[in-house]
Amino acid sequence: MVPTDNLTSCLLEVILSHPALSCALLVATVAAIRWYIRDSYKVEGFSQKHVFITGCDSGFGNLLARQLDGKGFHVIAACLTDKGAADLSAAASSRLKTVLLDVTDSESVRRAVEFASKEVGQRGLWGLVNNAGRSVPIGPTEWMQLEDFTKVLDVNLIGVIDVTLQFLPLLKKAKGRVVNVASILGRLSLTGGGYCLSKFGVEAFSDSLRINMQPFGIKVSIIEPGFFKTAVTRLDIIEADLKRLWSRLPQEVKDSYGPTYFDKYVKAQDFSLNILCSPDISKVTACMEHALTAQFPRTRYAAGWDAKFFWIPLSYMPSFVSDFVTHLLLPPPKAN
Ligand SMILES: NC(=O)c1ccc[n+]([C@@H]2O[C@H](COP(=O)([O-])OP(=O)(O)OC[C@H]3O[C@@H](n4cnc5c(N)ncnc54)[C@H](OP(=O)(O)O)[C@@H]3O)[C@@H](O)[C@H]2O)c1
Repeated sequence: MVPTDNLTSCLLEVILSHPALSCALLVATVAAIRWYIRDSYKVEGFSQKHVFITGCDSGFGNLLARQLDGKGFHVIAACLTDKGAADLSAAASSRLKTVLLDVTDSESVRRAVEFASKEVGQRGLWGLVNNAGRSVPIGPTEWMQLEDFTKVLDVNLIGVIDVTLQFLPLLKKAKGRVVNVASILGRLSLTGGGYCLSKFGVEAFSDSLRINMQPFGIKVSIIEPGFFKTAVTRLDIIEADLKRLWSRLPQEVKDSYGPTYFDKYVKAQDFSLNILCSPDISKVTACMEHALTAQFPRTRYAAGWDAKFFWIPLSYMPSFVSDFVTHLLLPPPKAN
């Protein structure tokens, strides 16, 4: 085996002996340094800026609300429940305001905009983070009924669109930012149900929003987390819902999967989520914070090592490769 040091020096020697390769290396190095420096420029005056975050009862939204509050931002944290709002208020400074919001209810969104517009005054809204989301029902497509899709799409996609449209006037005033939480499941459809559809939709909505709002000075970033331990990846919730989906299937459909399939499917979910989910959710909130505080926010943030080095590269590969990986994660139904 060639030692790594020798290999590197051989490679450098080859590159430096060719003028074109040397130029390419120089340009790439300068571009990387320029990107790194540009990436670290921050906006100023956090204490003059308001950020509205949806889904702050738990998970990423809850941590981000506390994190930005600690940095001096005026955070308006939207929670689904009274308890979520009360717990968050108790854990934050008096600057942080909570508001109740169900993103599937347009009237609730309108009331939240009214509340926020009183808070932000003439400054407008600096940041809108569309974070609220749900995962279940999730599972094989054939086990789903139409309402299982709409339950998820209503929160994760239609909710994001409604909240964004209603907040746009306030964002325009501040030449603010929209941060939309998608997922690596907005790049790869690893499971059936509405979740992947909704996240693919968030990617598309954010792309068109970014292009359309760029002339008005509004920047749009997409967060693409890998797998993290939060309520959306809680095995007990996913398993209970899978049981509901399986139990209502006609016997004929159950028979086509075989008598042991359900248990194997649940075991496979347990195994992959236990291995895949990272407990360090600050990796995601660090990306969200960068999107709100960097002078030049990125268009897409891959959050987590699994997203950066496995799922997103996999999404660029031919479908037969990603299909193969997905099949590895799932048990095969009984052969016919
Ligand atoms: N965890 C992951 O591995 C992962 C990966 C990629 C993307 N994401 C996305 O990250 C976002 C945050 O999820 P999370 O992982 O932090 O899980 P989470 O703790 O369950 O956070 C989701 C939040 O959304 C709230 N919510 C649910 N339905 C709502 C509605 N109709 N209106 C308003 N709020 C609602 C939930 O409230 P309750 O707690 O009261 O239900 C909860 O506070 C979601 O969009 C999720 O899809 C998560």
